[in-house]
Formats: sequence, structure tokens, C-alpha cells
Amino acid sequence: MSDARLWHEVDDYFTDRLAPGDDVLDATLRDSEAAGLPSIAVAPNQGKLLQLLAQIQGARHILEIGTLGGYSTIWLGRALPPDGRLITLEYDPRHAEVASRNLARAGLDKLVEVRVGAALESLPRLADENPPPFDLVFIDADKANNAHYVEWALKLTSTGSLIVLDNVVRGGRVADPDNTDPDVVGTRAALELIGSHPRLSGTAIQTVGAKDYDGFALARVLA
Ligand SMILES: C[S@@+](CC[C@H](N)C(=O)[O-])C[C@H]1O[C@@H](n2cnc3c(N)ncnc32)[C@H](O)[C@@H]1O
Repeated sequence: MSDARLWHEVDDYFTDRLAPGDDVLDATLRDSEAAGLPSIAVAPNQGKLLQLLAQIQGARHILEIGTLGGYSTIWLGRALPPDGRLITLEYDPRHAEVASRNLARAGLDKLVEVRVGAALESLPRLADENPPPFDLVFIDADKANNAHYVEWALKLTSTGSLIVLDNVVRGGRVADPDNTDPDVVGTRAALELIGSHPRLSGTAIQTVGAKDYDGFALARVLA
């Protein structure tokens, strides 16, 4: 058996027992695919990880950058208390429309707001509204802007908040300082910012599974 096949089988085993789908999550993936959205949502067991992290944080305010069809949004939104709030930023109006339908079916439309536009334009507008600090920020959009997103996350959070940055491995290219792919350069800049910023303590983990070889970074906001 190939390594990749084994990773998928083990992920299926974990997912079946620990992060099983339900009608709403399954329909979210099905309708996203039917609408032609790319199959780049988090895996179910990573969705569950996001939910657990939000619960561990006791999160009441969550910010997501990169909505797609709202699959990760639903995992995160389900961690919120009834008076919680999740704002998710999506560039593509078609993705946002599919996500809004999926979130309504999930019964999360009162707690979750999908904001359409380039995140680097939505974020300053959001900051101008002076929102309460976000307890968790999930960054999963255009990787070239990852460092900018970490900077914005710092402005919109407070001590103890958690920043999660997805897809940091870039097929292993993240470790190559000569790589000029903007997604690699942006991810390296974000990781270097996390590693050097006095207000952040972070780490990054490589993973294998249903999404093949991948990884994520976590950063806690200090004082
Ligand atoms: C990897 S997908 C998000 C997957 C989603 N978090 C999930 O796991 O279900 C990335 C999304 O970010 C959006 N995106 C790309 N560039 C963006 C930008 N500049 N601002 C906001 N969203 C952007 C894409 O349209 C896409 O829907």
C-alpha cells in the first residue's frame, strides 16, 4: 500500500470514530462540490480539532479568513455559546453565497456573518468597528498574504487569544529559503513573524492524512 493510501485509511478510521460527519456537514460538502467550489476544505478531523481549540479557548468571538463553502465555519460555529459571534471573510461572492446557504441549514446564520471582499480590505473596516477581541482567529485564505493576516490577527485579539494558520508546509517547500512561490514566501514570512514577535508564542506541526502531506501553525497571543 502506498504511503498516501495508508494516510487516507488511517484518517478515515480516526474520522469515523472521533469526528463523524452528520447530515449538515455532509450536505455542506456535497452542495459546495455541486456548486463547483474546489475541494480544499479542512478534513473532518481537522474541523474537529478547530472546534476543540475553540472550546478549549472558551471562545465567544471567532474570526475566520477564508470561508469557501463554510465547512470549517460550521465546525467552529458549533463551538460558540448562544451569544457568541463568528465573522468569516471571503473574497469570492459565489463561495460566500454557497457558504451562507450552508450556514443557514446548519442553524448558524444568527451567530455567523459572512463578509464578502478581499480580506485585506475587510480587516481594516472590521477594526474600525472596534469589535471585542477575537478569542480565536483561523487563517485559511490566500497564503501570499499570511503575514499580513497574522499582523491583523494581532491587532484584533488580546492576551490568551489563539491564531491558527493552515497549510504551512507547502509540500515541504516552506523550508527552502530560495523558493519564490508567493504562497511559500507569504507562509515563511508569517512563520518568521510568529517566531520573532514579542507578543506571540507559536509552533508548527507537519501532518499527513486525507489532505496528504500538510501542516498548520498555532500561535498564542501573549501580553
Ligand atoms: C482553503 S479555502 C478555505 C477553506 C475553509 N476554511 C474550509 O476549511 O472549509 C480558501 C478560501 O479563501 C478565499 N480567499 C482567497 N483569497 C482571499 C482574500 N484575499 N480574501 C478573502 N478570502 C480569500 C478563497 O476564495 C477560498 O474560498
